[in-house]
Amino acid sequence: MAILITFPDRSITGGDGTRFSLPAMPAALSYSPLPPSGAWSYRNVSSPREDSTAPAESLACEARRPLVDATHPSSARVYDYLLGGKDNFATDRSAANKIEEAFPAIRTGAQENRRFLLRGVRYLAAEAGIRQFLDIGTGIPTSPNVHEAAQGITPEARIAYVDNDPIVLAHARALMVSDPRGNVGYLDADIRAPEAIVGSDLVRKVLDFDEPIALILSAILHFIPDEERPAEIVRTFVEALPPGSYVLASHVTPEHEPRLRPASAGYRDDGVRTRPRTAAEFERLVFAGRGLELVPPGVVLVSRWRRDPDEPPAPSPAEVSAYGGLAKLAG
Ligand SMILES: C[S@@+](CC[C@H](N)C(=O)[O-])C[C@H]1O[C@@H](n2cnc3c(N)ncnc32)[C@H](O)[C@@H]1O
Repeated sequence: MAILITFPDRSITGGDGTRFSLPAMPAALSYSPLPPSGAWSYRNVSSPREDSTAPAESLACEARRPLVDATHPSSARVYDYLLGGKDNFATDRSAANKIEEAFPAIRTGAQENRRFLLRGVRYLAAEAGIRQFLDIGTGIPTSPNVHEAAQGITPEARIAYVDNDPIVLAHARALMVSDPRGNVGYLDADIRAPEAIVGSDLVRKVLDFDEPIALILSAILHFIPDEERPAEIVRTFVEALPPGSYVLASHVTPEHEPRLRPASAGYRDDGVRTRPRTAAEFERLVFAGRGLELVPPGVVLVSRWRRDPDEPPAPSPAEVSAYGGLAKLAG
């Protein structure tokens, strides 16, 4: 089976000259040179059977050209920095610091989004009986990850992760340590190619499209500007879902914090485009599709969505500045 991991010495030099080590790869993974610039190659990456930390079947991964750009910020690495992670470069920290200057509560917002995501996954596994998850825009692993939350309740849960950032790909193995009773896969792909994602062998191997699936779009759609037709992207995903599936999504909003727009503009100047949306825009974008019915409390600030009584009090709406919602596809 072809294997494509393209960091020969497993380290990257950042724009500031710092060298970063990537997670250890299984010994049997072999190096394959980068295809010529502009050419995209798709290959299957599978884990050797001798890996003892996870069942062989769970380590399915499909990758294309991994190329870490340490000179421009990436949304995955900026988010990692805001959540206190270590997988970021000087350019990401600088972009995050600029956002933070304009919008000091950005870290609180990121943490509240993460809490919402985990509450949503637990609801889906425990209360809705969902056993399959398609998580688009996975992010750099932040424990607990979606599969840990889901398999903590349903060990047989199957999760297909999708992201287009090479640094997330570099961590794919950490993401894919599945409970032996379940299965986890990782696809290196862009949300703007939804047909390729739902039709990919990898996703079809991990998920059964005859059984309900929870589509997760957490903190990703605000990176898709209107001209890239986010509504069509969402519709393509939703139309591929079987009846009884769910859609969980969250989205940055400018409605409660006037400083959020200038903060987003600064991010854009660094090469990352964002499109904060109002509650009405977000609801129309994600939940207006065929047969989708919002689960109470509907579209609300992520901090207010089924908050557990034992969680600390919710921060102010301005600090959170993100909406979330979960809907069920009639079936
Ligand atoms: C803010 S993080 C959210 C991570 C996680 N979903 C969460 O809510 O905690 C956004 C993620 O979306 C990914 N992303 C952004 N644009 C993307 C695209 N066009 N296709 C696939 N992934 C994308 C980034 O690489 C990053 O990992």
